[in-house]
Amino acid sequence: MELAETILVTGGAGFIGSNFVLEWLRAEQDKVVNLDKLTYAGNVRNLESLTGDLRHVFVRGDICDPDLVGELLATHRPRAVVHFAAESHVDRSIKEPGEFVRTNVQGTLNLLEKARQFWAGLAGGQREHFRFLHVSTDEVYGSLGPSDPAFTESTPYAPNSPYAASKAASDHLVRAYHHTYGLPTVTTNCSNNYGPFQFPEKLIPLMVLNALEGKPLPVYGDGMNVRDWLFVGDHCAAIRRALEVGRPGHTYNIGGQSERANIDVVTAICNIVDELQPSTSIGERRSLITYVKDRPGHDRRYAIDAGKIQQELGWTPETTFEDGIRRTIAWYLENMDWVNQVRDGSYQEWMQLNYRGR
Ligand code: NAD
Ligand code: TYD
Repeated sequence: MELAETILVTGGAGFIGSNFVLEWLRAEQDKVVNLDKLTYAGNVRNLESLTGDLRHVFVRGDICDPDLVGELLATHRPRAVVHFAAESHVDRSIKEPGEFVRTNVQGTLNLLEKARQFWAGLAGGQREHFRFLHVSTDEVYGSLGPSDPAFTESTPYAPNSPYAASKAASDHLVRAYHHTYGLPTVTTNCSNNYGPFQFPEKLIPLMVLNALEGKPLPVYGDGMNVRDWLFVGDHCAAIRRALEVGRPGHTYNIGGQSERANIDVVTAICNIVDELQPSTSIGERRSLITYVKDRPGHDRRYAIDAGKIQQELGWTPETTFEDGIRRTIAWYLENMDWVNQVRDGSYQEWMQLNYRGR
């Protein structure tokens, strides 16, 4: 019998990381060592269904810790690092940029350096086989006008928020580690995700929960900012594909072919919540829509040209926005225990800080 290999996942208790780990263990043989600091955005409950699964090793720790990362690599000898861990919310980056530089830039540098040392000590076959997959965002490319062509892998970087700038810096470090040291890296730049386990500070889960509870639906600015939405399971499938057959040193854009204005997303959510959970006391959820003060520096439009990953790696999204948003809303309705647990005191403080005075 072939011995199972191991991958080291960072940030695997967050939204995309936990979806990735759950799907990985359903589909693949390799063990997963899951390194996550469990910030406000990380939640071991996302991984509850893995209790007793010996192929999942959870380690609570910081990607900025060189000793811990070095020890995990030396002990588990993974064939790949799949790096999700990050501070990920634009609004928080506007209030507290420092933490974004620490985790997203210094943390990525620490992982790269420890991975480089580990990889340099591997024997020929294993050395060639090793991958460092860096999960990044389309926000590094900046903002598009209404009729601009979508972002390609050669669009110049023009990050506008502290979050986007910190991710751009991490992408550049990954590029430099490939170019300078030959570390076999692959970077993916993906558009906005949605789906199960997304922390309710982000647009879609926030609107679903506020609509359910009859609270105002705070739409920033004129509601006409456009994002290209991708169901999280499709993103995870693209990462698996890029890990297996992506070319070292390359970057791949991932998108959902689902550009929507925010107001259209919120209206769609209202209609589905009305249908799945009608309420005579709340009435039509669209009446809860409240335009509020815009986010500073708010990027107008993101759109992804995913031609490279489609043509080279044969990946395309399988879930339409209409299907994915319905499945996502149904998931939140069925998982109110999870919701109530993540909306703790620190979440209430964040809601006050971000929305008071808008
Ligand atoms: P998330 O905020 O839901 O989860 C981040 C996870 O990282 C959490 O579990 C958190 O505990 C962990 N973490 C944070 N700091 C850490 C540290 N110093 N050490 C170890 N763990 C730490 O984020 P997400 O939405 O799942 O995003 C995952 C990755 O995908 C990020 O790199 C993000 O930039 C990228 N991305 C996200 C989207 C999106 O729409 N959410 C789109 C494209 C790319
Ligand atoms: P978000 O989910 O924070 O993702 P990102 O800023 O990374 O794209 O926001 C998605 C869009 O929704 C973005 O244009 C900002 C907008 N938005 C609102 O209008 N109201 C809100 O309360 C939030 C959180 C976001």
